Amino acid sequence: MSVSRRITKAVIPAAGLGTRFLPATKAMPKEMLPVVDKPAIQYVVAEAARAGLSDVLMITGRSKRALEDHFDRVPSLEASLEAKGDHKKLSMIQEATALGDIHYIRQRDPRGLGHAVLCAKQHVGDEPFAVLLGDDLIHEQDDLLTSMIQVQEKTGGSVIALMEVDAQHISSYGCADVEVVSGSEYVKVRGLVEKPNVDEAPSNLAVIGRYLLHPRVFDVLEHTAPGRGNEIQLTDALQELATENGEGSGVHAVIFRGRRYDTGDKLSYLEANITLAVENDELGEELKIWLKEFVDRMDA
Ligand code: G1P
Repeated sequence: MSVSRRITKAVIPAAGLGTRFLPATKAMPKEMLPVVDKPAIQYVVAEAARAGLSDVLMITGRSKRALEDHFDRVPSLEASLEAKGDHKKLSMIQEATALGDIHYIRQRDPRGLGHAVLCAKQHVGDEPFAVLLGDDLIHEQDDLLTSMIQVQEKTGGSVIALMEVDAQHISSYGCADVEVVSGSEYVKVRGLVEKPNVDEAPSNLAVIGRYLLHPRVFDVLEHTAPGRGNEIQLTDALQELATENGEGSGVHAVIFRGRRYDTGDKLSYLEANITLAVENDELGEELKIWLKEFVDRMDA
């Protein structure tokens, strides 16, 4: 059956306005904010490529043209770097264009994440696919997508990623009620609620921005009513898939214990920059020395 095919398509919703990062995002897409020396979105596309998802559909909106330009070639820049013999920079700019086929579609109305995913229906067709949220940066060494793909191959249906958060932070996330699947490293999702109040949350397990979805989600999204924030929520569609029976239903989850940064959040964005800069071949050693001195000065 077509829906059991290996997942090759990734959908990256990138239409959000980035209001959490104003004024930096007043005239530039939040996805283009650099993390060390690459725009945040490039890490997400690279993660998809590493997991074998070579067909990427980005859901964009107005004022997001910089995203398309970033993943396109600039022959004049390449020629000038070539002429200067600057092969290092040349290969750095070519990295973004070598990540696979990237397609773009605009979400014309900002009606929420569920609606953004529904915009991918025609491109995706009748096969399972991945959704990667552009704000979530998963550390390269903590491969999450591959383990999700392995679970999806076993369970069929849809697979989400959860992370334990401090109870008081759960109202910023989708929250899952889960049960153990004996003998497995994954869990079964019994129910989901988008951004619950702290005292109503069924757990402290937060939905993070990686999903493997059965195409049945499109049928569900078509009738999903606006929920939290008057937006069509992907979480609400997944809640329906988790609680119904039949072809394409069922939701399982991987509990991620690796490093995740929310590059739409100022503090987490800074942490991502410092962590990746410390690990960077060119910057790491000097930055570590400086950071130690900086901390000592702060303590003094
Ligand atoms: C979205 C989802 C939410 C999820 C979060 C992860 O919310 O709706 O369920 O927990 O991403 O980053 P957003 O952060 O876009 O408001």
